[in-house]
Amino acid sequence: MLVGREEEIESYDVLLARLSAGRSEQSLIAVGLRGVGKTVLLGEFRTIAEERQWQAIEIEVDKWDDRQFRQAFARQTREALHGIAPREKWTDRVKRAAGLLRSFTVSIDPDGKLTAGLSDSMIEAHADSGMLDADLTNLLVGVGEAASDQDTGVVLLLDELHCLDRRQLGALISALHKAVQRALPIAVAAAALPQIHELVGEAKTYAERLFRFSRIGNLREEDAARALREPAARQGVNFSETAVQVAIDFTDRYPYFLQEFGEAAWNMATGKDITGRDAENARKIVEEKMDSGFFKVRLDRTTELQRMYLRAMAELGPDPQPASKVAELLNRTSQQCGGTRKQLIDKGLLYTPDYGYAAFTVPLFHNYLKRAIPEFEAPPVRRRQAKAP
Ligand SMILES: Nc1ncnc2c1ncn2[C@@H]1O[C@H](COP(=O)(O)OP(=O)(O)OP(=O)(O)O)[C@@H](O)[C@H]1O
Ligand SMILES: [Mg+2]
Repeated sequence: MLVGREEEIESYDVLLARLSAGRSEQSLIAVGLRGVGKTVLLGEFRTIAEERQWQAIEIEVDKWDDRQFRQAFARQTREALHGIAPREKWTDRVKRAAGLLRSFTVSIDPDGKLTAGLSDSMIEAHADSGMLDADLTNLLVGVGEAASDQDTGVVLLLDELHCLDRRQLGALISALHKAVQRALPIAVAAAALPQIHELVGEAKTYAERLFRFSRIGNLREEDAARALREPAARQGVNFSETAVQVAIDFTDRYPYFLQEFGEAAWNMATGKDITGRDAENARKIVEEKMDSGFFKVRLDRTTELQRMYLRAMAELGPDPQPASKVAELLNRTSQQCGGTRKQLIDKGLLYTPDYGYAAFTVPLFHNYLKRAIPEFEAPPVRRRQAKAP
């Protein structure tokens, strides 16, 4: 059950409906911190696509080279072509899209494994210039024409979009742009960490106009209460008012924490009521679980210097912090800390909400850091080596 995301679902539904009607509409990017429900939202989008008999190309993006990029897109595009129409009913446009797909993968898959069995249903076409930008555009436009020909559409559901590098993101944007200009039924609905704003803007100047960015975050209080109460009620169990309040205070209404909390409280309760005491016990269990899992895996991926930087940020609180202030706390200059800060952004642990500022991508990470590293000690001031006389 997905509460509190009605607006996003409505926008998405409107997007598919408009494109189906041959009109244009901005594609969507759901932007939010870790665990706010981006992936489950994309799951909901897929269901809606299926209901509309659209094809969904679902890809979880990673830090890829171009070869991996082509591979991931090719695999899913192949599925989508099969979904557009059964092979025996393929029209020339679908066959041409299959030819484009073959051409798109020829450099990375000379034996044709990725398009095995399609050769007798292909019309030769080219997406093999070696330029990702041009090739992806040709492929996507071809797929869009095939879909349009069969009165359907294709939506690319791209999770972790911020992982694409600038050129790959640029290629995706160019391809979508062309599809939009041709009024083809091709949409992108993506999910990403907040640094995506900057990445999209840097990749192509016109990109901002192609997308509607939808910020998703912690739930409103009544939605948080619903997310706890409704699943329990279906099993005949009631969340007491106090228990809900404990959960809301502890989770700060973040979906992933609420989910874990609900489960722990449920396991704790013996009768038909989840009491305040159950909730207090659940709180300890969830905290332990998060500290040894969700939070810890992220901290484990950092170096000593990065940890120190994060800990200094935690000392300053949950809000975005100016680089200069963090550096000051570390007895360093912003310039000296710049490398570490950038590495943390690249690792997806920090993002930059405003120029010069950085914030945690993991909700409540500041509290965890203080638990994991109780004492913050600024490193000694680095002195320049005295010049030889
Ligand atoms: N609106 C919601 N209502 C109820 N539960 C939700 C909601 N959104 C998310 N959840 C639950 O929270 C958990 C985290 O969701 P999800 O994995 O989609 O987050 P995410 O934003 O993709 O996180 P990450 O950035 O780490 O990939 C899931 O278990 C999901 O069921
Ligand atoms: Mg996710």
